Amino acid sequence: MSELESGGPGNARRRSIVAGEFVLTSEDMRQIAAMLHADAGIYLTEAKATLVYSRLSKRLRSLGLESFRDYCALVASAEGLDERQKMLAALTTNVTNFYREPHHFEHLAKTVLPPLLDQARRGGRVRIWSAACSNGAEPYTIALTILGLLPEAAGHDIKILATDIDTNMVAHGHQGVYSEAALRPVPAELRRRWFVPLRGQGAAKDWGVADELRQLVAFRELNLIAPSWPMKGRFQAIFCRNVVIYFEEATQARIWSRFVPQLTPGGHLYIGHSERVSGPAAADFQPAGITTYQLKGAGR
Ligand SMILES: C[S@@+](CC[C@H](N)C(=O)[O-])C[C@H]1O[C@@H](n2cnc3c(N)ncnc32)[C@H](O)[C@@H]1O
Repeated sequence: MSELESGGPGNARRRSIVAGEFVLTSEDMRQIAAMLHADAGIYLTEAKATLVYSRLSKRLRSLGLESFRDYCALVASAEGLDERQKMLAALTTNVTNFYREPHHFEHLAKTVLPPLLDQARRGGRVRIWSAACSNGAEPYTIALTILGLLPEAAGHDIKILATDIDTNMVAHGHQGVYSEAALRPVPAELRRRWFVPLRGQGAAKDWGVADELRQLVAFRELNLIAPSWPMKGRFQAIFCRNVVIYFEEATQARIWSRFVPQLTPGGHLYIGHSERVSGPAAADFQPAGITTYQLKGAGR
């Protein structure tokens, strides 16, 4: 990476590793990466300096700061706690989609849900966790898959827990408003039934989730690397997709191990297309499809 002479007088001997209006040095980058690692488990190297620069320069501008050194000092201080949250939100990648990696929802509909929904009809409890739910597209897709099989699901003991570290994403999911473009992957029949038009026309139209869809999903803030998780009961399925990819191998292995006691025997774990269950927990799961695993011990 090319190093550029910095601009302002206070930065006379500091070199920026990214070209632009603000100075971002290797040391700033190291500090930002260390904070993100401590707060979220996300592992960033200097190769991501351009991304860090482009995502955070808006923050510097709106705070009227002149350099990343000042920004680092702020987010490392007690007064900067709020801004540290904003930094985290800016640096997490929230890419998601309704019906992303559709084979998981086909597997859910064909294999996992039929016996669970039978159980629910007889008064049983169904719990599914979307662990790193981003803006809610993933948990609502799970809910739509359930509603496709059991339209009166909201009247049964069926709940999807949707969690994410990013408060903005949790708020978006809770609000349940999506654009026309975001809803494109949702089958027309399901969209007609479970979304309500809010405002706008054509491509600029916004839709809100209908009450029956909303009632199935509970959004909460949760950090996957927190020392403990508050959930008491177990889940029959966990979706943890496209998040551990940002963690180091050891953190990934720890997360997989922590899912084991959170699943019912025979419960399913769905992971992202470029992820794999690693570490000691790999022995607890058997493959059940593309990036789909089943906890051993069904029927025990
Ligand atoms: C790329 S999105 C994946 C969303 C969804 N699971 C999917 O596959 O479409 C990754 C999400 O993980 C969240 N995330 C990152 N680190 C996290 C952590 N330590 N705990 C919980 N969520 C985290 C981000 O905020 C982001 O919304």
